[in-house]
Amino acid sequence: MLRRSLLRLPPLPSNARAKFCTSSTKFANRAIVYTETGNPATVLTALTYPSLPPPPPNSLNIRIRLAPINPADINVIEGVYPAKPALTGSLSPGQELTKPVYVGGNEALAEILQVGSGVEGLKKGDWVIMAKQQAGTWSSARTVDASDVIKLPADTLSEVNAATITVNPPTAYNMLRDFVELGEGDWVLQNGANSAVGQAVIQIAASRGLKTINFVRNRPDIDALKKQLSDLGATHVLTYDDLSDKALSRTVKQWTEDRPIRLMLNCVGGKPTAQMTRFLGTDAHLVSYGAMSKQPLALPTSAFIFKNLVAHGFWQSRWYDTHSRAEREALMHALAALKLKEPEHEIVTVLGWMSDVEAKEKNQKTRDSA
Ligand SMILES: NC(=O)c1ccc[n+]([C@@H]2O[C@H](COP(=O)([O-])OP(=O)(O)OC[C@H]3O[C@@H](n4cnc5c(N)ncnc54)[C@H](OP(=O)(O)O)[C@@H]3O)[C@@H](O)[C@H]2O)c1
Repeated sequence: MLRRSLLRLPPLPSNARAKFCTSSTKFANRAIVYTETGNPATVLTALTYPSLPPPPPNSLNIRIRLAPINPADINVIEGVYPAKPALTGSLSPGQELTKPVYVGGNEALAEILQVGSGVEGLKKGDWVIMAKQQAGTWSSARTVDASDVIKLPADTLSEVNAATITVNPPTAYNMLRDFVELGEGDWVLQNGANSAVGQAVIQIAASRGLKTINFVRNRPDIDALKKQLSDLGATHVLTYDDLSDKALSRTVKQWTEDRPIRLMLNCVGGKPTAQMTRFLGTDAHLVSYGAMSKQPLALPTSAFIFKNLVAHGFWQSRWYDTHSRAEREALMHALAALKLKEPEHEIVTVLGWMSDVEAKEKNQKTRDSA
């Protein structure tokens, strides 16, 4: 199964000094940053920055405990993703950088270190996630507006589940809810089923009594992958190679007992995705949320004419932009209550004694193996 890499950038030892600086400023934090978009291996670098002064009114100092490296984070750095981070000239208020930087990372679990005056409903030690897109989470600590975080329900989530709750689980949850009304015993078809989103789809669908037909790429240890997905709650797991079997449509009809499949989720694109639409019933909805194969999606016209197929795109960032804070909080509470299994992961800790060059190299190795 795929492993998600999560970055941990703990505070540096309190006597750390940046090599370029002769002042007495304490350099307690580190961020993974870039100044221009491009190949992450080339453009990313590590930057040490000073400890944070007390937060101004209505602000918080937060420590980032754990920040995932998601596929979209790489696309952002490459400059091929629609959401862009803001250039920042200062990572610690009052300390201007010589050149503004972009800080990598969108998602994270953070812990409140210090609360500024006027902040209500948040206290030191609370676990929070980012309410703002592209918040620059690949960093040790930041000062943020209190409105830029959402408090997580206490004691319900592991550190890894909390750090990965903002992107993939809500994508799965919303796609299963927002396009077609499904009841117990209904079927969902998906590709990329072993992706982090796909695994969340399997678990959330199973928790609602929905059945799933899941496609993955073939591999030497396919039986082990099928078992892992079945253990999560997948009803059937197939490979794209199975699509060449003409009898598969009949098999699927037997599985579903002729109940029409009305929702298909796609993060892959290309020909196999188009072939999968043959299993859909009338009035089905195809929801695309990723394009991992980088191949265009050419759908059979007949599916639109004769089966009234409706094709949509889904972007969780747009969902956040178009929903209120109360709705976002309710979503987080609903996800926390589901107690999803932690994604397979490795935690990569960039240790305090490492130089910025060593920290850059460690981050690079992590991304290469992600
Ligand atoms: N629209 C949204 O709001 C939203 C939200 C979250 C994620 N996403 C997108 O959803 C996708 C999955 O994200 P994730 O974090 O769940 O991914 P992930 O855990 O890294 O998994 C990647 C998936 O893509 C498959 N894959 C990679 N290259 C492929 C190829 N050439 N052909 C077919 N399959 C391929 C992998 O299969 P193998 O195991 O066979 O390599 C795996 O199933 C990404 O495109 C991501 O950007 C979108």
